[in-house]
Amino acid sequence: MSVIKVAILGFGTVGEGVYKTIQSHTEELEGVLGRKVEVAAVLIRNKQKKRNIDEDVLITSDFDEILDLPQLDVIVEAIVDKEPPFTFLKQAIQKGCHVITANKEMFAHHGNELLRLAEKHNVSVGYEATVAGGIPVIQTLRQLLNVNRVRHIQGILNGTSNFILTEMREKKHSFSAALSLAQAKGFAEADPTNDVEGYDAFYKTMILSRIAFGEEPNWEEVGREGITSITSELIESAEKHGLRFKHIASICMEGGQINATVRPALVGKSHPFYSIEGVENAVNVNSDIVGSITLQGPGAGMFPTASAVIEDLVYVCQNQSTNKNYKKTISVNYGDKEGNGDELWFIQGLSKDYKNPLITWIAQSTDDTAVIQTTREEREKLINQQKVTSCFQILGEYEKLGNNKEVTLAVL
Ligand SMILES: NC(=O)c1ccc[n+]([C@@H]2O[C@H](COP(=O)([O-])OP(=O)(O)OC[C@H]3O[C@@H](n4cnc5c(N)ncnc54)[C@H](OP(=O)(O)O)[C@@H]3O)[C@@H](O)[C@H]2O)c1
Repeated sequence: MSVIKVAILGFGTVGEGVYKTIQSHTEELEGVLGRKVEVAAVLIRNKQKKRNIDEDVLITSDFDEILDLPQLDVIVEAIVDKEPPFTFLKQAIQKGCHVITANKEMFAHHGNELLRLAEKHNVSVGYEATVAGGIPVIQTLRQLLNVNRVRHIQGILNGTSNFILTEMREKKHSFSAALSLAQAKGFAEADPTNDVEGYDAFYKTMILSRIAFGEEPNWEEVGREGITSITSELIESAEKHGLRFKHIASICMEGGQINATVRPALVGKSHPFYSIEGVENAVNVNSDIVGSITLQGPGAGMFPTASAVIEDLVYVCQNQSTNKNYKKTISVNYGDKEGNGDELWFIQGLSKDYKNPLITWIAQSTDDTAVIQTTREEREKLINQQKVTSCFQILGEYEKLGNNKEVTLAVL
């Protein structure tokens, strides 16, 4: 019986997880693919490091040695940075290998080119692990898009930011204390910029946009804001209004244009993201036939990410084109351009005596925070003209706390 030969580029958290999973799930893989899957080679940088890898596996830091193998069917890339991974994958595709990547930064920048090249060489590209780790969001979207039209997608796409916000709320930690804890637990890098400033979530959002809408917004026009401006005091004030801060990526097609943002926002109890805590990720997809679906689960980690890679391995080996839908152009308009209607805002610093017929006061707290309803345009004026210190959008339904409960609908 022939064998499927795999090379793994990188033997860190993801690469090792993929290696171990191929070993531990040999029977399942053989059952579904009808052929044994074998790891033929592993690419690393530091040859001196001790690794738990079988003797018959080629361990090398020279990618050419991998390309020269007599048989190679799939290359799994789990390295960091855009280069050299992009060059490696181009070469692998040109050689006729299927490729699978977990590297969102590289794929957000070069995914299109890799997919075009793969089409030309009649191979597939798997990238499930680039978005929300172990959650099968890309396969789900691909399946949904057979007939459904996606209206919008929201996601908590960065586990580190979500962990920090959860710690700050639950343990009343400062941002820096929560970040140090995330670093101590291995959830955050020594340089946490990519996570806490929203770049990581931004890359994932661009990949999702391509799948859902066939294209990306202009990167320069995407509002990207991290969580560094959120203080534990703000989190506490929001809780008094029944709201929780979440770092939310949002993409929708409005007025024929794709609008995307990555920013902190607030959600109430009825929002599917309210209970997404710690390093969990979640993705909510709203489409025309099925309505709203939320997927949640581990957004990173050795085995959750390996699970996404292994599912891709099955997918590409079954010769299903993972390029499907990626280049589909949808010209359907789903609604008015964002910001034309009233939206709900959690605001700090606006004087309670401030009167403006275009602003509805929904709830006020004894500290200087409140929930108001107004347009995006009025909100900009408030920020510029009044002594507003913070203002964040509330997504979903807002349920006013207290005896006279009332529900106000906010923008999803
Ligand atoms: N960690 C997660 O939970 C997770 C989840 C989803 C996606 N991802 C993505 O998956 C990728 C890998 O993440 P990771 O956490 O596994 O990283 P990691 O633990 O830092 O491991 C990186 C591996 O790549 C190797 N490497 C780095 N540069 C190389 C080069 N130029 N040539 C050959 N090998 C090189 C390293 O070799 P040495 O061992 O010799 O240093 C190491 O084995 C990243 O793009 C990340 O964004 C990670």
